[in-house]
Order: sequence, then structure tokens, then C-alpha cells
Amino acid sequence: MGSGQNTEPGGVGAARTTAAAVAYQSGFGNEHATEAVPGALPVGRNAPQRAPLGLYAEQLSGAAFTEPRHHQRRSWLYRIRPSAAHPPYHRIGNGRLRTAPFTETEPDPNRLRWDPLPDPRDPTDFVDGLVTVGGNGDALRRTGIGIHWYAANRSMTDRVFGDSDGELLIVPERGGLLLRTELGLLAVEPGHVALVPRGVRFRAELLADSVRGYMLENYGQPFRLPDLGPIGANGLANPRDFLAPVAGYEERDGRPTQVVNKFGGNLWAADLDHSPLDVVAWHGTHTPYVYDLRRFNVLGSISYDHPDPSIFTVLTSPSDTPGLAGADFVVFAPRWLVGEDTFRPPYFHRNVMSEFMGLVEGAYDAKAEGFVPGGASLHNMMSAHGPDRATYDKASSARLEPQKIDDGLAFMFETRWPVVPTAQALAAEHRQPAYDQVWQGLQRHFTV
Ligand SMILES: [Fe+2]
Repeated sequence: MGSGQNTEPGGVGAARTTAAAVAYQSGFGNEHATEAVPGALPVGRNAPQRAPLGLYAEQLSGAAFTEPRHHQRRSWLYRIRPSAAHPPYHRIGNGRLRTAPFTETEPDPNRLRWDPLPDPRDPTDFVDGLVTVGGNGDALRRTGIGIHWYAANRSMTDRVFGDSDGELLIVPERGGLLLRTELGLLAVEPGHVALVPRGVRFRAELLADSVRGYMLENYGQPFRLPDLGPIGANGLANPRDFLAPVAGYEERDGRPTQVVNKFGGNLWAADLDHSPLDVVAWHGTHTPYVYDLRRFNVLGSISYDHPDPSIFTVLTSPSDTPGLAGADFVVFAPRWLVGEDTFRPPYFHRNVMSEFMGLVEGAYDAKAEGFVPGGASLHNMMSAHGPDRATYDKASSARLEPQKIDDGLAFMFETRWPVVPTAQALAAEHRQPAYDQVWQGLQRHFTV
């Protein structure tokens, strides 16, 4: 993408070459400004009588016009054709994609766990490869979340995807993605996450022969960095580590490109005779990002106990109630444990919030086995969980010395509303029906 660059799909090798050269601008929430061709970005106004270079000016709003300034999200795009130049959308199949409200199954208090989603046998791109686990809220009321796995073995070629229902947090677990977005290129590898705002179109190309990962679809308020309170001005995810694309565009006139629009839970398609990834310049705050989770500044106790895992929040989507998130994205990154007289793994608990966990690599310090990269667990509201028996036995008798947890990268989607699984997630062959057994055999130690 971008002036003079080859944008023909050329397989994994070509995508990797392109990904290695991607340039970014930095800073979460910044008022970014970028142009792929000098002079394409108007100066001093958003909508001049004639935009430079014969481009069309178009505003993309991620917040209502009247929201407070610090919540305002919008970008001005200068493009070869306006997005409005499209024929009617027609319905296409939803595949295994599902959307809130989730009513296929009864809300389930059981603790659920899955092995990784099996790789597809047929040619499957990123959109075809989405499989919904469950979610909550109501997409049309812009509340709640959808939780998805993806597994794909081919790049999107002649279609782009945009989600009107929510923003997308993509968490690769195996193989990376080159995201060609309207606003420019993002390269996202395992260990990184990509955040694609509501409505922004993109084409996902594979950086490996087959890829796999997780995706949180956030119907609610856009993710923002959490407040830091007494932590101070720095720490957790630092704003400058969020990388936004620089403008890049493609010209594929005469080549059919399908715009797939997820709207109200269904997929709709409109067929264009040109690429909609034709933004030559843009400025604003409504932009995708890529973020390297290893840059997360992990904070923890240097005395005893460990803080609640809210200390590991990367991004939060507030609900209407202060402190009660529609969605939190939380990472369990490499860190030191030094607490004295402390049970160091995650404690036993029952949580009013609901927790979906995934693993990008290595192991998670609350589970000795069974929770593997690409797998997932769901601990719904008030379900009792915590370390498995092997972890409990080991940690409660361990000699407490400073200890580095450095072989795992786990994450959690946490939400104020229970997550209702889809029928396909409950029936999946890769679900572990015996998950409860990890807590069997915890011995009685009580003595008086
Ligand atoms: Fe938990």
C-alpha cells in the first residue's frame, strides 16, 4: 500500500516483506496527521472547497459529535473516492460468526475450557475463519462484547471487512497478520495486539501459512487507557507504545473488491469496482493501533500479597457505571514475584466480573497443565476458580525467593456482564468436558 508499492497479493513472502518495512506514528489518542503524497493533507481546514489533488474529504466518526472533548474520536480522510460511492449491500452468510444478544444457550455457571480451535481444512480467510465463543450485551444498543477465535490459511484478496457493530481487538497466537486498513498498514505478530476502530475497513493478509488467534469485538465505548490513580503519571501501558499507521493507499481500479460490513450481527456485502483502501492522507484520533504486549510496564507488590489483576489492565472500555468496565483487556506478562509469606499464583476467588482467558505462549502460573497456547477458559460471574491442585501444592510449600515468571503470555477479557456461550462453543469437540477435575483432590488440611 502507498504510492509506488506493489499491492498485489503475493503470498506469505510478499506480505512478510511488506510487513518488515511498515512505518508508524506513535501515541494512543493523539491527533495524528499523515499523508502518503506530499500536499494531500489540507492545511488549516478540514473540508476545503476542493480538497488537494482531487481527493474527496470524508469524516469518520467514532464518537457522537457532542461527546466531551476528551472522549471525542474522529478522523478526516482524504480519499480517491468517497465511501458513499457503493451499490446496495446484500446479505451473505454469517459462517460461524454470532452476535449479541446471545440467546442460543442458557447462561451457564460451569467453568469451561477449550483446547485450540482446529485448523481449517478448506481455504479459509480471516473473516471466514471467525468462530464466536460467546458474549454479552446487545450490539444494536452498543453494549457488551463478542468473543471470537479465528483460524485462517489464506489471505483476504478481493474483499475488505469493516465492523459497524464494534471495535476489534485482535490477539494473534500463532502466525502474524498484515492488516491493510483504510488508514494504512499494521503488522501484528503473536505478542502484539491490533486495535481496529468501529467501521474501519481492512484486509487481513497472512504472515504465515496458517494463523490462529483471538478477537474481542467491543460493542461498547471505545477502549481507552485506564486511569492510573496513585500509580502516578507513568506505568502499565505507556501511550507512546501504541503505534498508528501512516497513510498508505492502493489503486486497483477495475478490479472487483467486496466490502463486507458486519451490521446488527449479520454480514452484508457491497461489490465495488475499485479498492476502498484509497485514503491518501488523514488526520485525527479514530485510528487503528498495534501494541507490543511485552512493552507493558508490569507493576506488582514488593512486600506481601499481590494486587488484584486489575493492575494488569492494558485497555478498558467503561460502561455507564464508573469503575465497572464493559470490557477490560488484561495481560499477564513476564514479571518478578517477590512477595514474602505470600501465596504467589493467582488466588482462589469468585468474581462478580466474568473472565475469558487465552494464552499466547508458554504457560500460565495458575495452571500446571491443560491450559495451552491457543486454548481458552471461561469463568463466568461468581464461578469459583483459581490455581489447580498441582499449582496449589507446589506454591504453598515453595521456598520463597525472588522468582521470575518469564515463560508465558496470558491475557484476559474481563466484563461486567456474564458471557453466554454459543451453541457451537458448548458443542465443540475441542472443549474439555472434564475441566472441573483440575480442582478435584484438593486435600483437607484443616486441623485444630
Ligand atoms: Fe479469575
